[in-house]
Amino acid sequence: MRRCGYRVYLNCQTDSSASVPAVHWSRADGRSPVLYRSNMASSLQFAVNTAQYFRPKPPSLKIREEICRGAYGSVHLGELDGRPVAVKRIHRLLLEAARGQGDFEQVMTDFKRECQLLEKIDHPHVVDFRGAFCDETTDEPLLVMERMRENLREFLERIRNDLSQQKQLEVCLAIARGLRFLHTHTPPIVHRDLTDKNVMLGKDGLVKIGDLGQSRLKANNAEYFSTAQPGAIPFMPPEAMQEQAHYNEKLDIFSLGVLMLEVGTQQPPRVRLVGIGTVKEIVRRREDLSKLEEDHPLKPLILSCLEDDPKQRPDIVTVHTQLQAIVEGVDVSVLAFATPLLHVLISVSVHVYLLIMRFYIMLWAILFEWNLVKIRSDSCLSNICLYGVQSS
Ligand SMILES: Nc1ncnc2c1ncn2[C@@H]1O[C@H](COP(=O)(O)OP(=O)(O)O)[C@@H](O)[C@H]1O
Ligand SMILES: [Mg+2]
Repeated sequence: MRRCGYRVYLNCQTDSSASVPAVHWSRADGRSPVLYRSNMASSLQFAVNTAQYFRPKPPSLKIREEICRGAYGSVHLGELDGRPVAVKRIHRLLLEAARGQGDFEQVMTDFKRECQLLEKIDHPHVVDFRGAFCDETTDEPLLVMERMRENLREFLERIRNDLSQQKQLEVCLAIARGLRFLHTHTPPIVHRDLTDKNVMLGKDGLVKIGDLGQSRLKANNAEYFSTAQPGAIPFMPPEAMQEQAHYNEKLDIFSLGVLMLEVGTQQPPRVRLVGIGTVKEIVRRREDLSKLEEDHPLKPLILSCLEDDPKQRPDIVTVHTQLQAIVEGVDVSVLAFATPLLHVLISVSVHVYLLIMRFYIMLWAILFEWNLVKIRSDSCLSNICLYGVQSS
């Protein structure tokens, strides 16, 4: 089988050191074959599927200068079919090291998961997927996305504390819309790394969530994730930073609270590691919180998102609804009280309307009936009269 420069074949003849089936990945040109093993038939299948997933890089894909270099990979400016794109690739050195240490499958699986998630999602506030390819000359997988202008941190630095309150609210609302889409997806998608660098703005100013590299689908019957959370520490809630990490989608709500605080103060979070799990988060973050105006409309929502207990944090539907109301200038406390009242008013009005209609129809029927009787009796009388005249 040959895909994207890899020749993948299953080798079920065990060699002297291996009692389990092995998968060989070798370059199509026969150079430096790499061997890794798995003791699960399903992971052999997965390795083959992973290679099949990445299509050969088309000639119309041009990769240009690097925008950003992270621990795992780099993002480059690019063009696909003449349109501007961003291309994410794993560091070549990391791939080589992973091959040597037998982690190649894991690295490829993670990258493929990110591509597949992005491919599945179509939402105005999540970065657009444009393709998943493999560079035949370097054997590297490539994720191609729409090109964004800058990340949220760069944006806040560029405009230098000059973001109006209305614009701050709109940025937060856009992030909440994107996150609402992820959390209400079936199955729910937990981002797990919602930071100022993973939220981006396009040339048109549209705010989008990106970097789904840490995102996971939450199985319907799973209450919690218990894997270590490798996200950025200032954006992480206390439950994700314990040795026995135990968290669910409320982790993203906490990160959203930190992001809203960053947008509201236009300052990156400065919180340190001291006191995690022992000191309340709003105390640990008092320096950041003190920069937020006392009467800032986002303050109550930020405080509720930063609750230590995940159960006390609102869900994304509540956060989104409240943000929407704040943006539209509705008093949120009034809204919470007014919504049930409005429901009662509407249902009472409908009932009253139906009663009036019923009464009106009955009245109309009675009048109609009475008129008929009257017409009948009138014609009877005239007949009698007529008869009387005739008989006289
Ligand atoms: N689609 C994109 N368009 C423009 N820049 C991007 C795009 N995706 C990522 N970047 C830039 O590259 C940085 C790292 O990308 P990201 O996907 O977060 O990779 P990593 O997994 O290394 O964190 C982002 O913070 C952003 O500045
Ligand atoms: Mg990132």
